[in-house]
Amino acid sequence: MVYQPFDLTGKTALVTGGNRGIGYGMSEALAASNANVAIWCRNAASADNVVAELSELGTGEVKAFSVDVTDEQAVIDSMALTNAWKGRIDTVIANAGVSARGIPFVEQDTETYRQVLSVNLDGAYWTLREAAKVMVERAKNGDPGGSLIGTASMAAIEGAARNQAYAATKGGLISMIKATAVELARYGIRANSILPGWIATDMTSNSQGNDKFEDNVIKRVPIRRWGEPKDFGGIAVYLASDASSFHTGDTLLVDGGYCIF
Ligand SMILES: NC(=O)c1ccc[n+]([C@@H]2O[C@H](COP(=O)([O-])OP(=O)(O)OC[C@H]3O[C@@H](n4cnc5c(N)ncnc54)[C@H](OP(=O)(O)O)[C@@H]3O)[C@@H](O)[C@H]2O)c1
Repeated sequence: MVYQPFDLTGKTALVTGGNRGIGYGMSEALAASNANVAIWCRNAASADNVVAELSELGTGEVKAFSVDVTDEQAVIDSMALTNAWKGRIDTVIANAGVSARGIPFVEQDTETYRQVLSVNLDGAYWTLREAAKVMVERAKNGDPGGSLIGTASMAAIEGAARNQAYAATKGGLISMIKATAVELARYGIRANSILPGWIATDMTSNSQGNDKFEDNVIKRVPIRRWGEPKDFGGIAVYLASDASSFHTGDTLLVDGGYCIF
């Protein structure tokens, strides 16, 4: 028997925020595994080089779409456009996210709180709901299956000081994913959350190279380094593939062992 579940030929994956950081690491591995990859970011033209680079990796196609996930109508329209691109969407990774500057709870303002919620929670909700519509419709037409993924954070399960808004969105996303896993399993649709630890991306640029942070936090990571975007390629391909066909409702920590130490 030849076992090749990680060959994603014929499958289409959508990654929100797939142009940079963790989403880029996921998109790169999905493209290299022969999936068609749709990347959503706010300015598709800014991802031209990423599209060109990833298109060389596998046999699938790569295309960027301009979508601000805080705009419900834009998400609705773009999901329809993305589905029309290849006639199907098999995997959707709600990964786009923002953090807020870490300041004491008592000094935080409502405007920032709402901004973080609008991308991380509203954006993920609309993305996952519209993706679910596409997948449920396809299942009702005799072609069940699909993988919904939310990029949450270990901030949802550890005490993330000075990050109340961010942590709340990630805890909410995990709950949203679990509810979806139970409800949509009958259509063969799976839903899982990925919880990154400390990852070197634009989001954490202020902490990278900061001696105090490196000493107090990164030295405590059992694997003893920052995570990299490419560390998220394997989990994205696994969850997009038939290898994970009985795996749903889970919260998968990818943190170099930080949370158990
Ligand atoms: N880095 C970490 O240590 C870490 C840890 C735990 C969880 N995470 C989570 O991992 C995910 C990716 O983070 P990252 O570290 O890769 O961050 P990043 O490098 O700052 O990338 C953020 C991505 O989100 C997109 N995005 C932001 N706002 C958007 C909007 N309104 N509409 C559409 N796209 C939008 C950005 O696209 P544009 O180019 O359009 O800005 C970009 O692709 C986030 O959900 C984050 O919360 C990160």
